[in-house]
Amino acid sequence: MTPQLRPPPTVVVIFGAGGDLTRRKLLPALYNLFLDGWLPERFAVIGLDRRPMDDEQFRRHAREGIDQFSRRGPAQEADWQKFAPALGYQVADFTASASYAQLAGRLAAREQDWGSPANYLFYLAITPTLFETVARQLGEARLVADPQRSRLVVEKPFGRDLASAAALDRSLTDILAERQIFRIDHYLGKQTVQNILAFRFANSIFEPIWDRRYIDQVQITVAEEVGIEHRGGYYDRAGALRDMIQNHLLRVLTLIAMEPPVSFDADEVRSKKLDVLRAIRPIPRDQVDHFAVRGQYGPGTVEGRPVPGYRQEPDVASDSTTETFAAIKLYVDNWRWQGVPFYLRTGKRLAARVAEASIVFRPVPHRTFPPSAVRHWVPNRLVLRIQPDEGILLRFMADMPGPGFTLEPVDLSFSYEQTFHKAIPEAYETLLLDALKGDATLFMRADQVETAWAVVAPIQEAWAAPAADFPNYAAGTWGPAAADALLARDGRHWLLPTALEKGRPQP
Ligand code: BG6
Repeated sequence: MTPQLRPPPTVVVIFGAGGDLTRRKLLPALYNLFLDGWLPERFAVIGLDRRPMDDEQFRRHAREGIDQFSRRGPAQEADWQKFAPALGYQVADFTASASYAQLAGRLAAREQDWGSPANYLFYLAITPTLFETVARQLGEARLVADPQRSRLVVEKPFGRDLASAAALDRSLTDILAERQIFRIDHYLGKQTVQNILAFRFANSIFEPIWDRRYIDQVQITVAEEVGIEHRGGYYDRAGALRDMIQNHLLRVLTLIAMEPPVSFDADEVRSKKLDVLRAIRPIPRDQVDHFAVRGQYGPGTVEGRPVPGYRQEPDVASDSTTETFAAIKLYVDNWRWQGVPFYLRTGKRLAARVAEASIVFRPVPHRTFPPSAVRHWVPNRLVLRIQPDEGILLRFMADMPGPGFTLEPVDLSFSYEQTFHKAIPEAYETLLLDALKGDATLFMRADQVETAWAVVAPIQEAWAAPAADFPNYAAGTWGPAAADALLARDGRHWLLPTALEKGRPQP
């Protein structure tokens, strides 16, 4: 990157600097951006948290996180020596104005050292109950007064439902301009998710067939093998619908379904995405069971080892009715998508870690070949592989070598790894760099977040009543039987993610 394209001098202030997100994601991302030469020449991080640490201790804490979680592995000593001086720490009480006065002093001292004003990027890696308090305190300390120079990054979850998200939006926009607020959804920073835009709008061949006339259905699976790890306290109040569907899976759906933007202006792209969310047919409140299925894992086996059920996990109520699996069917009511179902599913403790979206095309209108020539017809399927084996795959029928016709499905595939031979940046690297530059394209605008909550609201209401059949799937499987029934009613089935196929393509 040429130096003039680097962001201007910036101080990143991390609220919640002692927490897990900072150690696992934010500091490794900043370090990798530094190694790749993307950070401003004048750059500093100030970590804020309650726990007593001085600058040196914070640097050691940061180093441990980076050594463990950086995509490049442990830091090299020479690189680390250049990066570490940028890190500082302040013990803070997020509710006390004195902490903000102290922060203001540190920021002013930095600017004096640099001999120039700096941009401020405030990152809220804290419990959502403190979002509003911190924003208010920053406002009162006049640290977000200049919309050109100060930005606030807000982590998920952004609200628990439509009403709380709207209330949070109101309080934040009392203090900051909308363009200062960067609501993060790390799925939007994934290279393979961003690439959906490139695939659709930098190529012409698929666009003419990208609609209801040629597409039969769209399936989006984001499966996790892990359980809830050490996050029982958070997860038991969230559940799969809030944790994954309302944000990550709806974002992927939006990118697949949106109309071509006129330009890559942040508001233009976000408005086109919003149009999709607004077109999603509301799920009738009395028919939620026909559109949505929930599940909770019981004990089972993952990678050959026995694992406990959800209710036996730490910090989870022994009679919890929180869902760890959700599958839903949505329709997008517009000209392009009328009648095409979008099936979304996600869950913890499923059979594998895999995220992919399949666009399944309609079958051929007439079978020219005799039944003896075909063992199984497979409709054309375009697979956007989000993770692992990142890439894109197009499945079609081909004639096998040999006499006569013997048709089998085969794949044309593009793999990031094999094509580019370099590691894909972490989502947080992309998003932090965009936030440093002030580019909000990959961040959520208030209306997008609220409309996404409105989409899931009928399901939230129905699921407020406890499920009688929990747990209803064993850890290490593909979720409850009702998820299969959801598609079977439409004469369809969940497709095995292609990343899990061994050998030949499967039906
Ligand atoms: C987070 C959820 O937003 O996304 C987690 O809170 C989930 O529960 C994670 O595990 C999945 O992200 P990724 O990048 O591992 O697919």
